Amino acid sequence: MGKTTVSAFSKRREANEKIVMVTAGSAPEAAAAFAAGIDIILVGDSLGMTMLGFSSTLPVTMEMMLHHTMAVRRGAPEAFVVFDMPFMSYHCGIDEAVRNAGRALQEAGADAVKLEGGADPELVRRLVTSGIPVLGHLGLLPQSIQTAGGYKVVGRTEAAADKLVAEARALEEDGAFAVVLECVPAALGERVTRVLRIPTIGIGSGAGCSGQVQVLYDILGLSGRVPKHAKCYAELGDLMRRALADYASEVRNGVFPAEENTFK
Ligand code: KIV
Repeated sequence: MGKTTVSAFSKRREANEKIVMVTAGSAPEAAAAFAAGIDIILVGDSLGMTMLGFSSTLPVTMEMMLHHTMAVRRGAPEAFVVFDMPFMSYHCGIDEAVRNAGRALQEAGADAVKLEGGADPELVRRLVTSGIPVLGHLGLLPQSIQTAGGYKVVGRTEAAADKLVAEARALEEDGAFAVVLECVPAALGERVTRVLRIPTIGIGSGAGCSGQVQVLYDILGLSGRVPKHAKCYAELGDLMRRALADYASEVRNGVFPAEENTFK
């Protein structure tokens, strides 16, 4: 079987088969996601908050994203990997944006890029005609929290919902292969899914989307606070703390290293 290409996701949508996407930022995370049968690995700029300790995604740079995407690619050579274009990497002119997106594929081995917002139609078209598949991202846009005034549900009014539907349609027309819908009311998630031919991938946008995406650290209990739209499938944070406390205690009590950990 060959590697997945973007056309596979449209077929999945037509066949009403849900698409599963999760974030990853390291080789072992990517290997686990691929082994678990996840369809798309997103190297999301949320790694700035989950892995790098920033309080928002704004400080994340191209170099950081390339570094993490290379690790993900090494961990899952066969996976379909999406590179999340970081803040200011696609806002300062189309040529620079295309060059940055090109680096994601050429240097880091990504298969596609994700852009937040009702992106400049010319940019989406230029990327797609340059051979760079584009995943759109509408609704709550973490890179715009300064102008949006915080992390809030988007599209609650009729006007806001209509605007989002128009942006989703434009992304489809310009050639995006799918659209992430972040924190929009479930009815709007369903509406966008109905009007588009390309898949919608929801996060906090209800079960009516063509697929779902979650931040790995939220669903594994590693991010401290689980957002309403996420579900914790394991408490790895607690497990890690307990394991490290056991290790510290065994070293201090002379239990570790034992005979079997010692070279004769
Ligand atoms: O960066 C990220 O993790 C994302 C998802 C929330 C879709 O963009």
